[in-house]
Amino acid sequence: MQIITNPDEMRDQCRALRASGQRLGFVPTMGALHEGHLSLLHAAARECDVVAASLFVNPLQFGPSEDLARYPRDFEGDRAKFEAAGVKLLFAPGVEQMYAGPSLTFVTVESMSDRLCGRSRPGHFRGVTTVVSKLFHIVEPDVAYFGQKDAAQAAIIRRMVRELNFPVAIVVCPIVRASDGVALSSRNAYLNPEQRQAAQVLHRALARAEQAVSQGERRAQALVAEARAEFAREPHARLDYLEIVDPDTLEPVDDVSGGALLAVAAFLGTTRLIDNVVIPPQRNP
Ligand code: PAJ
Repeated sequence: MQIITNPDEMRDQCRALRASGQRLGFVPTMGALHEGHLSLLHAAARECDVVAASLFVNPLQFGPSEDLARYPRDFEGDRAKFEAAGVKLLFAPGVEQMYAGPSLTFVTVESMSDRLCGRSRPGHFRGVTTVVSKLFHIVEPDVAYFGQKDAAQAAIIRRMVRELNFPVAIVVCPIVRASDGVALSSRNAYLNPEQRQAAQVLHRALARAEQAVSQGERRAQALVAEARAEFAREPHARLDYLEIVDPDTLEPVDDVSGGALLAVAAFLGTTRLIDNVVIPPQRNP
């Protein structure tokens, strides 16, 4: 595996691979790799001839009071995991290589970026779409892999790619969970044992709403009430949002019959975790 920090060199190497007729898969990450990240790398290795990945903790997507400074970093551990997953080119730039000075140019998917996490984290999705645009221009992948764990991020990137004609196919991979149901996240490392236990409430709340759907409930409000009832029983978790939206536009829906995304964010202490389930289109009971 080659580790590259310079954007121009990364572009040259990626172009050379594609020029030799190889289909290039790309997995952008912020490191602290876990099985969720690995599932994307494995999908890319299965479906493409060659895999590139990036490791960049993007300052632009963190708010001023967020965890940029203490975001988990483990370059050596990550390097070994990227390599074992078959990554051929690892792009690991420094901040100054991605942002030479204060930026004046941003990519924003309007209105969608103010929904779900975008409401509690102003500027977050603008930071994501800007860095992902830059990474796509540097890597020029045929296919890029994202996780359903960050459902709003995936929807916003799909929209950006469509509206800005990026010549890249977007693949969204399922959420990888721990055996207790908690979605894997680099931020789980912040949790103490009591919070880790309490974190199961996100998954339990979603499962309870899903069960209500399977019993015939279609009204979003009633499903949100079911899920909230689960949070009411967990004093260590503080709900940030719990919403039922259209999976493509992220606009709220009143009824889940046509399919919906049930998304949740909650604080365990100061750590904010997210999770979601997709409710497929339902036949009415
Ligand atoms: P990061 O949080 O490192 O996640 C990288 C990719 O891994 C994202 O597409 C995310 O959705 C996926 N992922 C994380 N946890 C997952 C899980 N439990 N199951 C499946 N996939 C999972 O998301 C980012 O980085 C950044 O915003 C980035 C896109 C790299 C832009 O900076």
